[in-house]
Amino acid sequence: MIDVQDGYFRLAGRETAMVLHVNESGRLEMVHYGGPVALSDAPFLRFHPLLTYGTELEDDQGNFPDHETLAWSGLGRGDFREPPLEVHFSDSAFTNEFLYDSHEILEGTCPMKGLPSGRGEGAQSLVIHMKEAARPLDLDLVFTLFPDEDVIGRRVRLINRGEEPVVLDKVMSTMMDLPGRDYGLLNLTGTWNREAHPVFRKLDVGRTVQASLTGASSNRVNPAFALYEKGTGEDRGRVYGFNLIYSGNHYASVEESPHHFYRVQAGINPEGFSWTLRAGETFESPQAVMTTTDRGFGGMSDHFHRFINKRIIPEAWQDRDRPIAINSWEAMGPRVSEGSLLKLAKEGRDLGMELLVLDDGWFQGRESDTAGLGDYSEDAKKLPGGLDRLARKVRDLGMDFGLWVEPESVNPDSDLYRAHPDYAIQSPDRTPILGRHQLLLDLTRTEVQDYIVDQVNGLLDRLPISYIKWDMNRHMADFFSPTCPAGELAHRYILSLYRILDRIFGTHPQVLLEMCSSGGNRFDLGMLVYAPQIWASDDTDPVERLTIQKGLSYFYPQSTISCHVSAAPHSQTLRQTPLPTRFNVAAMGVLGYELDLGRLSPVDKKAIQAQTAFYKDHRSLLQRGTFHRRDDLPDHQEGFAILSPDRREGVVLMAQRHLDHAGPAYDRLKVSQIDPDLSYMVRSRPQKCQLARFGHLLNYVLPPYLKGDSLPVAIAGRHMALDEGEFEGRMTGRALHEGIFLPDQFKGSGYDKKLRLWGDYGAQLYTIQALPEGEGEVEGESNDNE
Ligand code: DGJ
Repeated sequence: MIDVQDGYFRLAGRETAMVLHVNESGRLEMVHYGGPVALSDAPFLRFHPLLTYGTELEDDQGNFPDHETLAWSGLGRGDFREPPLEVHFSDSAFTNEFLYDSHEILEGTCPMKGLPSGRGEGAQSLVIHMKEAARPLDLDLVFTLFPDEDVIGRRVRLINRGEEPVVLDKVMSTMMDLPGRDYGLLNLTGTWNREAHPVFRKLDVGRTVQASLTGASSNRVNPAFALYEKGTGEDRGRVYGFNLIYSGNHYASVEESPHHFYRVQAGINPEGFSWTLRAGETFESPQAVMTTTDRGFGGMSDHFHRFINKRIIPEAWQDRDRPIAINSWEAMGPRVSEGSLLKLAKEGRDLGMELLVLDDGWFQGRESDTAGLGDYSEDAKKLPGGLDRLARKVRDLGMDFGLWVEPESVNPDSDLYRAHPDYAIQSPDRTPILGRHQLLLDLTRTEVQDYIVDQVNGLLDRLPISYIKWDMNRHMADFFSPTCPAGELAHRYILSLYRILDRIFGTHPQVLLEMCSSGGNRFDLGMLVYAPQIWASDDTDPVERLTIQKGLSYFYPQSTISCHVSAAPHSQTLRQTPLPTRFNVAAMGVLGYELDLGRLSPVDKKAIQAQTAFYKDHRSLLQRGTFHRRDDLPDHQEGFAILSPDRREGVVLMAQRHLDHAGPAYDRLKVSQIDPDLSYMVRSRPQKCQLARFGHLLNYVLPPYLKGDSLPVAIAGRHMALDEGEFEGRMTGRALHEGIFLPDQFKGSGYDKKLRLWGDYGAQLYTIQALPEGEGEVEGESNDNE
């Protein structure tokens, strides 16, 4: 609820409140952002120094701009911290100071043009109209409160009321000053194949900046970040989380002032950005979103996950289970053919998969990534009956059909480029710089937009496609367009992309769109408004995925994270990992498979059948339950739990990156978020360990003439595997809170089916099911583990 009293505004959620205040000078102060407070307390929460420090400036109201906690600031008027807005007026003046003029409160969101935003049912918006103190430039600060999720959206609108153009050099979507000491910063950094690695660092006086300049939200640093107080863990500590509903170049900075206030701002990256606002025009910034909690990182994830599942991903997919895909890329690369695809589809169906995704390689000239991009007619040699016959046959097998496209790019070796070289972004006076042998199309041109829309809509209208994987495989460079000023190109590209996605998927809401950009190079809220799920990384090694998925999980729900089981050794790391681990980790998101199923041994096929059956049995829980990370494990282990909202059901992952020592210590299964007053049945998901993992050790138990690496043993290994890690027990939620001991890990001798044969990279899933009342009396009973 938003209420106003004596110049104070309060935006109150369920467990948070933001209080704003127009001060005597007309500047908007951020009085409080944190737990719930009464408006009557606001004057006491307000920081208002009576005297200045020696060199500070004082305005005509006796206020010290550099020493206020502001919700918006200016440049050149006594606040020497980083300004959220930089403009140039036609006489080259750049001082700006926006002062309160009026405000309005709206039900729902405040409509915005051309940019995606959070859906607003039950939301309220506060629009504060500000005026530049000396020039005809207006600024609207738009706050949208999503009370149930404790999320606040912020964005700005700039309106040129004068006759002369104004050049915008920097426009942030949000800015606020927070008091506090010793904050840390969490952000997600990486590169291709190593996206979203969480980094925690302590802040100090000065600026810490994160930004992307690649034309996309990028794999280098995600737009999401969090500030946290000292001692914060998964379930304790004050955290402020921020994100941007935007897919292009982003910028965020946290500046700790000499007085230990923290100025946080986020928006479009000002580097390479310059926007001319002509008389009467309005510029709208993307929407930033923020939340706060004193329930640690887990509380922040809870708010953001609920917000994204309810207000960001397309409504048609909000509460809908996602299919288990079998994707052709890691199975056969671009060497696709009707025969091999139908074989993969049939094998996939028999193993419980539901959707065949035909990835790269299906269109003419696409023998490798050097040619063909831009031309969307089928390769008649690979697909003699065209996509129509293939799609029909896949559907006849009982599988859904999905298709890969990469519509934003063009290979110079393509019919599209030969016919329209001007469609590509390149600078006339420079040799074009290529990425994966391709150029980006100039999406700002309407004829290019029409070409893409016609191509993709043509496929969707002609074929029974239920899923599209939309890829984008290069960074932006050579910023030049004959029809768009260079400083506006990167932003207008993203606006055009949103328009294209609207035109395609707005008219095909039942098509499941999976976004991809060389893996997770565009994992952001802007994309999620169109695509309910995003391919998180080309790295499908489960050990790597533990970090990537964990990193993303701080800010994004598992329903948005697409995760595939692939073959080992992994093409990204050459690491050998057990099949159960690959599944157990992938099951913590939207599950799919991406490997040549024909090469699997009978024992692995059986294992995969059991995996897909397990996933289907727990699918809505796994995709949309509440996600928790453990923070009490040693560095080489990882633990996630997904619980139903009523905490009666759960699936828990325990995983190990490697064994640090022989003679492993004990491991405890601990779920702090479970209901302590219920009784539960806890079971391990049955899994088997391949004989090959034992190598020559098998000689200890085999007849002497059989070697561990001999053909008969290899053949036996294709049909047999060892049960491992069996566990079953009834217990109270209190025991799970404390942490129950799991059966031993393999210690160098002996075998028991309860032993966890994890070795390096082992992992297991455990199901937790509340027992009906009365059945749960476990007092005095011994559990099966004892
Ligand atoms: C990059 C994607 O991330 C991969 O999954 C695959 O689709 C390839 N592109 C195909 O070229």
